[in-house]
Amino acid sequence: MSAILEIVHVTRRFAGLVAVNDVSFALNEGEILGVIGPNGAGKTTLVGLISGTLPPSSGDIIFKGRSVTSLPAFRRARLGIGRTFQIMRPFPGLSVLDNVAVGALFGYGRGTPDLEEARQKARRNLEFVGLSRFADHLADELGGPGRKRLELAKALAMEPKLLLCDEVMAGLNHVEIDEVIGVIRKVRDSGITILVIEHVIKAIKSLSDRLLVIHHGEKIADGVPDAVLSDKTVVEAYLGKRRA
Ligand SMILES: Nc1ncnc2c1ncn2[C@@H]1O[C@H](COP(=O)(O)OP(=O)(O)O)[C@@H](O)[C@H]1O
Ligand SMILES: [Mg+2]
Repeated sequence: MSAILEIVHVTRRFAGLVAVNDVSFALNEGEILGVIGPNGAGKTTLVGLISGTLPPSSGDIIFKGRSVTSLPAFRRARLGIGRTFQIMRPFPGLSVLDNVAVGALFGYGRGTPDLEEARQKARRNLEFVGLSRFADHLADELGGPGRKRLELAKALAMEPKLLLCDEVMAGLNHVEIDEVIGVIRKVRDSGITILVIEHVIKAIKSLSDRLLVIHHGEKIADGVPDAVLSDKTVVEAYLGKRRA
């Protein structure tokens, strides 16, 4: 297996706080890597560091064998690093379809320069995530579950090679979670490598090939889900508290 992404001793400080502390790991091509950890552990910061919305304080981020650490987010997106946002940011005055078309216009490579072609692509992305019937609605008419799917469709429209999903199941019920799991599996089967942050342990366990646990900005475990979830340090730091 070859690594599509390597995080090498990455640290990110905010004033006096170390949000991500000397974290290293690799993500193999075609893999689904789950990332779990308590609120404030540094998971969203990690996504920002990989996608380029936040520069690291130190360390290196290697994508497909080349350092992208000094590249801005739009350049990383064009190389194939896509993400969803935990705090969803649809363009409120645009239709659901055009929200996704924007992704196609600015995505992988140089994107699609033609609006009609971008809309065609966007229709396929909406179909893929099960949002076709809302294509002509305004994005702000969507409820929570719809917005989560829209985030996925927007990210997919940029044709990423690596997709970073930040809590795309938060606030969803069991049926909706199962549907999103199905969509993420389909994304992987289409050849995209995935990093997925999630609090729903059952979901992340069934979805992930490998699990990484972050606690106070540090990586405390990395391995196959069963071993990680029964690891003593992980149970004490994270799972134990959740059950309490
Ligand atoms: N832009 C920021 N400025 C200052 N502190 C931040 C900023 N973003 C995140 N933090 C802090 O960094 C820590 C990690 O946050 P975050 O990565 O959002 O955690 P998680 O996604 O695991 O809940 C938290 O203590 C948070 O308050
Ligand atoms: Mg977060």
